[in-house]
Amino acid sequence: MRRAKISIIGAGNVGATCAHWAAAKELGDIVVLDIPDRVGVAQGKMLDLACCGPIERFDSAITGTSDYKDIAGSDVVVVTAGLPRKPGMSRDDLIETNVKIVKSVSENIKEFAPESIVIVVSNPLDAMVYTAWKATGFPTHRIIGQAGALDVARFRTFLAWEIGCSVEDVQALLLGGHGDDMVPLPRLTSVHGIPVSDLLSKEKIDACVERAKMGGGEVVKLMGTSAYYAPASGTIQMVEAIVKDKKRIIPSAAYCDGQFGIKDLFVGVPALLGSKGVEKIVEFKLDGPEQKLLDESASHVKELVDKVCELFPELA
Ligand code: NAI
Ligand code: 2OP
Repeated sequence: MRRAKISIIGAGNVGATCAHWAAAKELGDIVVLDIPDRVGVAQGKMLDLACCGPIERFDSAITGTSDYKDIAGSDVVVVTAGLPRKPGMSRDDLIETNVKIVKSVSENIKEFAPESIVIVVSNPLDAMVYTAWKATGFPTHRIIGQAGALDVARFRTFLAWEIGCSVEDVQALLLGGHGDDMVPLPRLTSVHGIPVSDLLSKEKIDACVERAKMGGGEVVKLMGTSAYYAPASGTIQMVEAIVKDKKRIIPSAAYCDGQFGIKDLFVGVPALLGSKGVEKIVEFKLDGPEQKLLDESASHVKELVDKVCELFPELA
């Protein structure tokens, strides 16, 4: 049986950790690419990771490179190239530098892996997904942004800690952009169907919502750079859904063509992920306040996209 091929652009914290999770789950062969100045880092990290194979029991081929020819034939390409934020910075402060990087990376993906499904991770996420779409020209179902998988995992973790139950038993959903105005949905959050509001006070639920929204910033404040274990884990959950054609429904930045009242914009929505990429957006009825929060978040995403188009008119 042919193994899946997963390429990861950027051998930094998120990229290398994506390779780690993908290898541990033996999802396929892995190529990690960085700029020529950092090829030694990509090669060294991947040599180190490959030598975990006998212990962790995976046979995947694992390669570090700076040559885009090595990504040819990829089923999925994960884009983590770009600067992370430092304390005091918002994700949006990275826009100008990271658009340039993601644009050039995307042009190479278009040339060397034209049939791949692209998962964008670089920040500001919602603007980078748009950039990758415009720069590759790929159909919208093959361009996806990772944010919701991470943000909802944070929300579930904080709720489980409050309830005192296993994180596995908390189901939750979250919509919107990857900013402080993301939209966790307590109404649709449960422990095996038991509404979370039956288990926790409103104050405690609100505190978990706030902590999930600010979860990225909390990590940056503690360690001076942005998170990578959970972001990479969320990304590889999406990769797994695609390479195993699992049809998992994972909150992802997907192209909305009227769903939830959002038009012509990549925004976090429940996306059914399978071998074709985003195979469907699972739409349902939001209540009034939820819709209002989603509209506000989508309008912030639109502002970011407008900023990209203003700075880089060729991407308009
Ligand atoms: P990092 O600094 O550890 O790694 C970034 C890597 O990208 C570096 O190795 C760098 O050499 C490489 N790079 C830069 N320009 C490149 C190019 N043109 N081609 C190939 N590689 C290039 O940063 P980290 O922590 O891995 O974060 C990466 C990005 O992911 C940041 O923009 C960060 O904000 C974002 N991020 C997004 C999350 C999400 O949930 N969407 C969560 C965590 C981080
Ligand atoms: C996070 O949420 C920085 O976007 C990244 O951790």
